[in-house]
Amino acid sequence: MQGDWRAPGTGGAPMPQRAAPRASLGPAALHLGARRASVAQERNRAREIVSVAKEQITSTFEDVRFGRNINVKALWPLVSSITASVERHSGAIMGVTRIKDRHEYTYLHSVAVCGLMINLARRMNIDPSLHHTIGLAGLLHDVGKARIPTTLLDKAGPLTAEEMAVMRTHCELGHDILTGGEDRLPEIVLDVVLHHHERLDGTGYPDFKDQHSISTYARMAAICDVYDAVTSARTYKPAWSPAAAIEWMSEEPGQFDSQILSAFSGMIGIFPTGALVRLQSDRLAVVLEDPDGDPMMPPVCPFYCIMTKQALPWRLSPPGMDPIVGIESPDRWRMTNWKEMRVAILAHFEANV
Ligand SMILES: [Fe+2]
Repeated sequence: MQGDWRAPGTGGAPMPQRAAPRASLGPAALHLGARRASVAQERNRAREIVSVAKEQITSTFEDVRFGRNINVKALWPLVSSITASVERHSGAIMGVTRIKDRHEYTYLHSVAVCGLMINLARRMNIDPSLHHTIGLAGLLHDVGKARIPTTLLDKAGPLTAEEMAVMRTHCELGHDILTGGEDRLPEIVLDVVLHHHERLDGTGYPDFKDQHSISTYARMAAICDVYDAVTSARTYKPAWSPAAAIEWMSEEPGQFDSQILSAFSGMIGIFPTGALVRLQSDRLAVVLEDPDGDPMMPPVCPFYCIMTKQALPWRLSPPGMDPIVGIESPDRWRMTNWKEMRVAILAHFEANV
């Protein structure tokens, strides 16, 4: 069963373009209540929030690049909007920030890590009064990259050893930037900015800390940072699915805190976005996003009928209509173009919800 799995007349069509970003948060995005929203409603709100967040974080990075002081207070309402979105629907911000082009990667990655950190803090039952600070730490964790040449940040390929050495200075640069102003930022923020690349086995940087000295917040940031990096598509690598990312991180026990990673995997879901699943109707499908209700019933897109051996048009199967019977391995079905097809299906629905 090798070759092109795209259904004729569906995946081959040009991808619809995303809407142009808006200049400011509209009433929907500013609604901070924890009222439950549908996935589609929250996706729309999340798009607005992320659009504004990208502008604000871009402008923050430009302030740093040109030697101006960062206005951290101006970022608090943004963190509040992201927190509210996560509380209404945990996966919406993640869904909207998943696809990034190389010029916007650093900015959208900051927004994504902010959302993941808040979500993880909730999952770990961390005192809610700390959630905003933890979110701000995620938003600013890579602020030191504002002092890294854009030719390195936007490079369309892996970095050389020399370039990597320059890139690695961003942790200390970020810490210097945030401690250089008049206002003292919370210790959690400074710690995460300086130590989000430390690893439990001592192989991280910049201080070669180990499991005895890395804080809970830096451990959380390490997981959120790497997860978003590997699940994002780059010009030199396709996006990993959430399922593949969790699997790989679990196989690196020296790197990540296993208890926090376990909480993180529970947060990502039983059937993570992008997972290949088999439906009761004997069709193969892709999980499109986090479920609105029952975690066993996320929305899926069936794309292949096992009985007829036919590709299917890409259509949304509403949650519960055709229950999932289990996760499948792409290798078992000899799906040589699985990664590309999954990216195309997720992008197709991302542009059409
Ligand atoms: Fe970083």
